[in-house]
Amino acid sequence: MKNILYKDGKLLLLDQTLLPNQEVYIEPKTKEDYYYAIKKLQVRGAPAIGIFAAYGMALIEDDKAMLKQYLDSARPTAVNLSWATDRMLKAYYDGKSLIDEAIAIHNEDIAMCKKISEYGLSLLNDGDGILTHCNAGALATGEYGTGLGPLLLGKERGYNFHIYSDETRPLLQGARLTSYELEKAGCDVTLICDNMASIVMKQGKIDAVLVGADRIAANGDTANKVGTSGVAILAKHYGIPFYVLAPYSTIDYTCATGDDIVIEERDPQEIKSMWYTRDMALPQTKCYNPSFDVTDNNLITAIITDKGIIKAPYTTNLMRIKND
Ligand code: MRU
Repeated sequence: MKNILYKDGKLLLLDQTLLPNQEVYIEPKTKEDYYYAIKKLQVRGAPAIGIFAAYGMALIEDDKAMLKQYLDSARPTAVNLSWATDRMLKAYYDGKSLIDEAIAIHNEDIAMCKKISEYGLSLLNDGDGILTHCNAGALATGEYGTGLGPLLLGKERGYNFHIYSDETRPLLQGARLTSYELEKAGCDVTLICDNMASIVMKQGKIDAVLVGADRIAANGDTANKVGTSGVAILAKHYGIPFYVLAPYSTIDYTCATGDDIVIEERDPQEIKSMWYTRDMALPQTKCYNPSFDVTDNNLITAIITDKGIIKAPYTTNLMRIKND
């Protein structure tokens, strides 16, 4: 399944807000189309946002520095967005072909996801029970995914994992996207509410947790979809390995620790009314809707990147791969 398709000057985007009920491709044309596609999560998942924004930088005629700033402001936490637009701006100043650079970013992401999937699969056994949170599959990247990559690659190679997908409140990426993607690939997937992660762990159904990341600080703290840090705490309690899978482009060496990561806050309507036929809270009820939280590095068994499997001490070992 391709989420971003580029051919002959035309970009098509699979609108993820309509999944799993409709598979519709839209054609963004203006800078506002690109901005709102990112903001409204028609395209989402850190690497996919970066790829999409790179095409926007190439295809939209505008002041490129201002365009970069505008696109970056759509979602602040996923570093891949500003990483990709930075690279596109540099290519512009260097006089390179911007569309070739965007295609390169896209292809490199596919290659990185394949490597991450191979490394991740090497840590799993046929028949394992796996818990995942949010969506870190092909929809969130160029192909295969990060957190789901080993599971999709494993399926191709004849592994049968028993996968539990947290529904992922409030935007339900686990329900709408992860279970859809895994069903389409023929995987054994069971959807659970976020607050059921503890019971499936206690019942011995989970051998490993696999999640993606939106920004990895230099000390290994990682920003992931909100709720992930709670899953990591549970995994530690039950002695289950907790793996964060992400491409090298998700590591932000300018961010010393997780405390330096800006957490996106979203519209309260996503909690109070979005999925309901009637409002589920009074209009005056206050809401706090952080889109991500930070998983402390001491809860992470390993960070699996395209440059290998990184374990603690993270500050030293993440620095070691910086110039590989
Ligand atoms: O808000 P979203 O849907 O963009 O959040 C996505 C995630 O949390 C993913 O797990 C993360 O971006 C990693 S994508 C491979």
